[in-house]
This record gives sequence, structure tokens and C-alpha cells, in this order.
Amino acid sequence: MAQMVMGRIPEGLEDGKEEISPTEELASEHGMLDRIMLAMDHRLKMAGTGGKADLGVINTACGMIRQLVDQHHMVIEEEHIYPRFEDTELADLAKVLRNQHIEMRKIVARMENLSKTGAVRDKSEMEELKRLFMDFHDMVMAHAAWEQTVLFPVMAGTWSEDELEELKEKQEEHEKKLLGKDATKKAYTMLMDLEKSAGISGLNDYTRRAK
Ligand SMILES: [Fe+2]
Ligand SMILES: [Fe+2]
Repeated sequence: MAQMVMGRIPEGLEDGKEEISPTEELASEHGMLDRIMLAMDHRLKMAGTGGKADLGVINTACGMIRQLVDQHHMVIEEEHIYPRFEDTELADLAKVLRNQHIEMRKIVARMENLSKTGAVRDKSEMEELKRLFMDFHDMVMAHAAWEQTVLFPVMAGTWSEDELEELKEKQEEHEKKLLGKDATKKAYTMLMDLEKSAGISGLNDYTRRAK
């Protein structure tokens, strides 16, 4: 069975991204990060436990996380979302989420550094890289799950239409400032290029059969 070919942005996707709500946009960005992490995981599994592995894909993935998540998604949350929860019953949750962003940035910086030359120097560095990745992965899974099951629905239920609309405009403006006017196209192209260089040919690569 032919796999759905990647490398092409389906019609309607770019227009649809402009139509979805700000919380759907944030959730979609979580999905982007999941796909980046899946590509990293795939590459790290292929790398085995020895040193001298080509880690260019990991390095590129870290750069993408910095650009698309750290400098965009996290900034939107830190400047326009978390402050709105600081005097509410979700203040503690907002504080933990904010702290996790700090730790995520530190872990990504360390992973980017370890993968910089395209090859880790020895087995212990490879093990460190894998451990950092698992820590990052687990933290992101929990972080995004709490945002999507608690924070985002509360926003949709308590913010006015105008406030949500204003947030959506800020997201679009910020994204365009970072990536230019074809921001969606650029982000998806970067993601698909990363998946391709990680050796992923499509969604079906992840299909598992019950044994
Ligand atoms: Fe967050
Ligand atoms: Fe988030």
C-alpha cells in the first residue's frame, strides 16, 4: 500500500490555520513539536549506543524547537496567557508551566550543544544525549497534556470573544515576524524536511501491528 506522500502541503491547510481558534492553534503547535520529537526519537534509536553517530538531524531539530517553540509558542504563552492565570485558582499550574519552559530551554541548549559537530565524542555523551531527550520528551508530554486538558479549555470558557480574537492576531503577527508571510508553509516545509532526513517516509512508518 502506498504511503501518503509527505512533502506537499494539502490545499486548505494554510487557510485553515488562519480560521482555527487560538487554543486550537496552540494545540496544533504541540502536534508540531510531537512530530519533531518523533523524528528525534527515530534518529536516536538508529544511532545505537556507541559514539561517532551522525547527529545532524538532532541538531537541526533542536534549532527548530528553538525557533518554532521557544521563540514563538512559549513566548506567546509566557507573555499573553500565563499572566492571566496568576491571580486565579490555576496560579500554581501556571507557575509550574512557566518553570518547565525554563527547564525545556536548558535541555534543548544542552542537546543542541552535544549534537553540534554532528558526532558525539564517546558513549557516555551519547547516553547523556538520550537521557536528556527522554527527560525533555516526558516533560513536554505532561506539559502539553495539562495545557490542553485544563488551561486551554478554561481560556475558551472564560475569555471573551474579543480577547480570544486578540490573542489569535498576536499569534499570527508574532509568527509572521519570525518566519515571514508564508509562515505556515515554511514551518511545515521545515518539519517535512526534518522527517525526511531522519529517515521517515510517512505516517505509516509508525503503524504497529498487534501480534
Ligand atoms: Fe507551555
Ligand atoms: Fe504549550
